Amino acid sequence: MKELIRRAAEDLAAAGNVAALTGAGISIESGIPPFRGKGGLWERFDPMEFAHIDALMRDPAKVWKVLVREMKEIVDRAKPNDGHKGLAKLEARDRLKTIITQNIDGLHQAAGNTDVIEYHGTFAWQRCMDCHKKYESRKVDISEIPPRCDCGGILRPDAVFFGETIPAKAMWRSRQAAVDCDLMLVVGTSAVVQPAAMIPVIAKDNGAKIIEINPERTPLTDEISDYLIMGEAGEVINRIVAAMD
Ligand code: OAD
Repeated sequence: MKELIRRAAEDLAAAGNVAALTGAGISIESGIPPFRGKGGLWERFDPMEFAHIDALMRDPAKVWKVLVREMKEIVDRAKPNDGHKGLAKLEARDRLKTIITQNIDGLHQAAGNTDVIEYHGTFAWQRCMDCHKKYESRKVDISEIPPRCDCGGILRPDAVFFGETIPAKAMWRSRQAAVDCDLMLVVGTSAVVQPAAMIPVIAKDNGAKIIEINPERTPLTDEISDYLIMGEAGEVINRIVAAMD
């Protein structure tokens, strides 16, 4: 791994425009479970029953009770870990411009990154299913489920459920960031959910180098990635930042 860390530090130092695509893996060290694999949410919940827009529309109270309340409580408590903080250091050193994240936890912004595209929306805000008014999640009283807007409508996370489209601005900004970068860090994503998984492919097609950080191989490994640094995000990113010093 040492050789790959050194290579990544050199590649980052030499790059003109760096973007990152992050997934649930970067937030595991903050206590937020991933979706797939051991301990993943989809081991406990059928996503079609609890994370699909049809399920939310059919029975919002059920989706809130089983999935949303638990996720909201975990996200409300979570703090950035070394992986998030390391990416913030890269931005502070002008070595990282944009983060495209599939995560809904707001931890990149909490760590200090200023240009974060929330591809799947956010749990930091709730919005009314009727009038679309938004409320900061931490301030939403969930003693009654589902929580309600002043207008009486039901609140839902301002996040993308299966069966919904990606917010247009996040979609086109991500595409642009992928086209513009000459190096993309792909951190902690299984790269199986579309259209997010296309982002590194677009970057590669436009000449970018792709560095994956993940303890496991993914469909990008060997196909799209120039190399995979096999390890946990916090440790690997810390070591890259240290190697740049
Ligand atoms: P997944 O749960 O599919 O994948 C998590 C990835 O993190 C896997 O590739 C793991 O090997 C890796 N991983 C585990 N521990 C890690 C660590 N300490 N450091 C770095 N990587 C680690 O999560 P995503 O790829 O983010 O969408 O999932 C994509 C989308 O699927 C989510 O945004 C969500 C879900 O359905 C929606 O809800 C719309």
